[in-house]
Amino acid sequence: MSEIIKFINRIENCDTLAFTDAMPTECVDLVICDGPYGVTGFDWDEVSCIQEYNLGLIRKFSRILKPGGALYLFGKCASIDFIDYRPYLELSTKIVWYQPSRLAQGRLKYTNNYDIISYFTKGKAKTFNLDDIRVEQMVELEHRKRCENVPSVKNGPYGKTLFNEKGKNPGDVWGDIKQLTYKSKELISRDLLNTIQKPERLIERLVRASSNAGDIVYDPFCGSGTVPVVCRNLERRFVACEINPGYVALANERLNGGKTNVAEVETEVGLVESNQMAFL
Ligand SMILES: C[S@@+](CC[C@H](N)C(=O)[O-])C[C@H]1O[C@@H](n2cnc3c(N)ncnc32)[C@H](O)[C@@H]1O
Repeated sequence: MSEIIKFINRIENCDTLAFTDAMPTECVDLVICDGPYGVTGFDWDEVSCIQEYNLGLIRKFSRILKPGGALYLFGKCASIDFIDYRPYLELSTKIVWYQPSRLAQGRLKYTNNYDIISYFTKGKAKTFNLDDIRVEQMVELEHRKRCENVPSVKNGPYGKTLFNEKGKNPGDVWGDIKQLTYKSKELISRDLLNTIQKPERLIERLVRASSNAGDIVYDPFCGSGTVPVVCRNLERRFVACEINPGYVALANERLNGGKTNVAEVETEVGLVESNQMAFL
């Protein structure tokens, strides 16, 4: 289906379920899926069973991902409970995106303070750019170095924990990236707070870790366009889809309001030619 070329670096106003089915097999390197969570009263968030809905998505994404490609699936803590995704993709990590700043005013039970980002791969991951996503070491340097001089640490199986000047692996609980607030410069509309717009830093970490410049990133639920904006900034190509025409307009405005436009990015990294190769 060579027509997919025309969808590169564009936001389509359509239903992602049908759109994904029309995509060619093994055509994308990474999927970042920030779709319904099944917890709010918004029309677009109402699904009868979020786990079954997510299983359907995982099956669809497994077909369009290249071998070694990755999927990040956003949701709440039970978003993939009691479903068998194993025939489609391998679950590598459940990342906890911890948001300590949530108001936490619940009285009847513990307030939820995190989202889950389920990280799947199609077979062995072909890309994991750890050096691009390292975070600051929290331990004090001198103490750390003293520990490393203990022979069993230096030469033993824990040698891999040696201090790295570039920082450490971010691990699977991320508390260092704050949810947007109404004061955040990048927030494009107050209506999008909490339910729609994700922080660029969060999406950047996923894109940097699991793709390289020129790779194709699919955003099936693009909302305000955070994934396309990050892809543009990091010289990845994107295919994006959004059902609400208002959000499509907003996302396009955001995308075109930046320093670089999509056409420039294409020219800079020779994307038009390589893209044609990818789908023909
Ligand atoms: C959580 S928001 C995505 C937010 C986005 N990551 C951002 O940072 O702006 C989910 C989006 O999915 C859209 N959506 C829901 N169902 C859809 C479908 N079947 N096809 C396409 N878009 C859909 C909603 O309109 C909403 O904008």
